[in-house]
Amino acid sequence: MNLRVIILFFCLIVFVDGRKVHRFRLQRRSHRHHKAPHSHFHLQFRNALRRKYGYTPLRTVNAVNITNDSSKGVALTEPLINSYDTNFFGVISAGGQPFTMQFDTGSSDLWVPSSHCKFCIKKCGNKFFKESKSKTFRTNNIPFSITYGSGSVKGIVASDEVGFGDLKIQNQGIGLVNISDSCSVFDGIAGFAFQELSLTNSVPAFQQMIDQQLVEQPIFSFHMKSGSSDGGSMILGGSNSSLYYGPLTYTNVTEAKYWTFKMDFIEVHGKNSRRCESGCKAIMDTGTSLIVGPVMDVLYLNKAIGAEHNDTYDLYIVDCATIPQLPIIVFSIADKEFYVKPQTYVIVYQDFCFSGFMDMRGLDHWIIGDVFLRENYVEFDWARKRLGIAPAV
Ligand SMILES: *[C@@H]1O[C@H](CO)[C@@H](O)[C@H](O)[C@H]1NC(C)=O
Ligand SMILES: *[C@@H]1O[C@H](CO)[C@@H](O)[C@H](O)[C@H]1NC(C)=O
Ligand SMILES: *[C@@H]1O[C@H](CO)[C@@H](O)[C@H](O)[C@H]1NC(C)=O
Ligand SMILES: *[C@@H]1O[C@H](CO)[C@@H](O)[C@H](O)[C@H]1NC(C)=O
Ligand SMILES: *[C@@H]1O[C@H](CO)[C@@H](O)[C@H](O)[C@H]1NC(C)=O
Ligand SMILES: *[C@@H]1O[C@H](CO)[C@@H](O)[C@H](O)[C@H]1NC(C)=O
Repeated sequence: MNLRVIILFFCLIVFVDGRKVHRFRLQRRSHRHHKAPHSHFHLQFRNALRRKYGYTPLRTVNAVNITNDSSKGVALTEPLINSYDTNFFGVISAGGQPFTMQFDTGSSDLWVPSSHCKFCIKKCGNKFFKESKSKTFRTNNIPFSITYGSGSVKGIVASDEVGFGDLKIQNQGIGLVNISDSCSVFDGIAGFAFQELSLTNSVPAFQQMIDQQLVEQPIFSFHMKSGSSDGGSMILGGSNSSLYYGPLTYTNVTEAKYWTFKMDFIEVHGKNSRRCESGCKAIMDTGTSLIVGPVMDVLYLNKAIGAEHNDTYDLYIVDCATIPQLPIIVFSIADKEFYVKPQTYVIVYQDFCFSGFMDMRGLDHWIIGDVFLRENYVEFDWARKRLGIAPAV
């Protein structure tokens, strides 16, 4: 869980931070520290979980082709690995070397740890990128740094061949991290948000797949699965209608930086009181574990499910025994209702359970993370700038 929780907090900082919001703030020459809200709480949370569960061992799985004779590109199914229902990973290659990555629709850069990394914590078991092993490696040594409340990573921007299964992108911009002060359960991050958010000034991997005619259609989709290490899949270049029920409901992206859209309302099923009742801004983010919203709205939802705030973890704790009796939470998008069951929105840890609804001071919109995506299939339509949503199989 470790870094995933941290990642979530990265984004918290960043959203609070003002107009130029980024999950990660990279700057060319220098970096500033941004004060995280409740940073000491989240560090405690992270450390407590780390002591308790250690590091998640990483597995390698291979991507499968779905070839389509009628066009040049392919639709490729990239299996996802699920860790504690809060972390989803997939495997890519960079310069011919395998890395376990988070596929993150909430950022636009691709980065992996460099073998030059001096302060990376080796016992994390992460893989390191070796320039000498790649014939296609190129760099101008332009530095970047990613800053967040509890620490930062720094490195240089390079380019190399990046492979998702047999789909090989030439000259993909990659951040090679050479200074990092925290462990992560995945090696790096592959960003799937739009170019405007790119902090390494690179063309995002999915845009490259379109430009290099590697994908059949300019769309990708996520089908996340709960409850076992089989985390479902990401499909690059297509969608698979056997993974969802009924037609997809489309909603336009309102601002093509993050995958931003308009949500009609959120409701506790069976109660008449709605939140975000005249519509609000939301971001579809595969890289955030939970659903994050404004303080009062999240307080309302957590009260409705009997969750109580725990100051130590800065999370809302739920009595595990109550899960079967808890209400469904309804999300209305493009006049269609989507559901999240208590079995999905309550995260079960070995000896306690916590709510998948998390607040953030200063946030005026919603970050719709894996809690929603584990129950609803989402197609990300890059070219038409829209999201297609349907209940997942
Ligand atoms: C995937 O497709 C590519 C070309 O579209 C082909 O070269 C490759 O052999 C295929 N791989 C598998 C595992 O089917
Ligand atoms: C193959 O591509 C065509 C045209 O892009 C599309 O209509 C069709 O659904 C695709 N078939 C599969 C199996 O994905
Ligand atoms: C590490 O990255 C910094 C930029 O943040 C750069 O100045 C430095 O040269 C890099 N070191 C190595 C060994 O690559
Ligand atoms: C779509 O998903 C189903 C269920 O996992 C799978 O059996 C099928 O092969 C997939 N379709 C394609 C075209 O990959
Ligand atoms: C979504 O965007 C498309 C074109 O960008 C437009 O034609 C359509 O009317 C929009 N739909 C809604 C519901 O705003
Ligand atoms: C909540 O926090 C207290 C300390 O404030 C701690 O002792 C307790 O174990 C936490 N409760 C749960 C359910 O984790």
